[in-house]
Amino acid sequence: MKKIKLSPSALSCDFANAGVQIQAAKEGGAEYLHLDVMDGIFVPNISFGQPVVKSIGKSTDLVLDVHLMITEPIRYIDDFVKAGADIITVHVEACEDVRATLEKIKASGKGVGISIKPKTPVSEIIPYLELCDLVLVMTVEPGFGGQKFMADMMPKCVELRDYAQAHGLSYEISVDGGVSVENARLCVESGANLLVAGSSVLGKENIKQAAIDLLNAANGVEL
Ligand code: DX5
Ligand code: ZN
Repeated sequence: MKKIKLSPSALSCDFANAGVQIQAAKEGGAEYLHLDVMDGIFVPNISFGQPVVKSIGKSTDLVLDVHLMITEPIRYIDDFVKAGADIITVHVEACEDVRATLEKIKASGKGVGISIKPKTPVSEIIPYLELCDLVLVMTVEPGFGGQKFMADMMPKCVELRDYAQAHGLSYEISVDGGVSVENARLCVESGANLLVAGSSVLGKENIKQAAIDLLNAANGVEL
């Protein structure tokens, strides 16, 4: 089984103290840092863009896991590569030419990620899975942190895990939205190995402890 990894979402940071807060998450065991880029069109919210990704990236050596919730992300792949992204995830629903978008990320040498919104079935991304290093299953409607986890998305993780096994693929299966100590084990048992968590880690008072608790819960360690 793949190692379970935590990708705290910077959307829940206090941006004036982001460096310190991200370091605390790292001390609690986080290996990735999830950066949510929103354009106000693909999702009904605006977050931040390349300059913020760049300056946060300079302050940490965590793997920069950039989640682009923007229309036609192919237009900005080069910019996010320059900003320091290690993995770039795009939404299948946002791309006119999904394959060209993923190939552009691949050609840059960065990790290739694809994501599906709650209403999008796994079948929509099957043709692209052989190109992907990461598959992100949204467990809330994208756009905002702090929403309720949708447990009914778990069969998608199972489907993705089974597909990877059957086809000799090794993409990471990530879940994003409402992930907490209450559901982290369920995510892992369903096949996810990369847990994105905003409010339940960087949104907490004691960030390091929150990261430890979430990883313990995901690994099935009794609290
Ligand atoms: C939502 C974003 C998430 C968000 C998760 O559209 O993609 O990454 O930051 O936040 P929580 O964990 O609070 O649901
Ligand atoms: Zn996200």
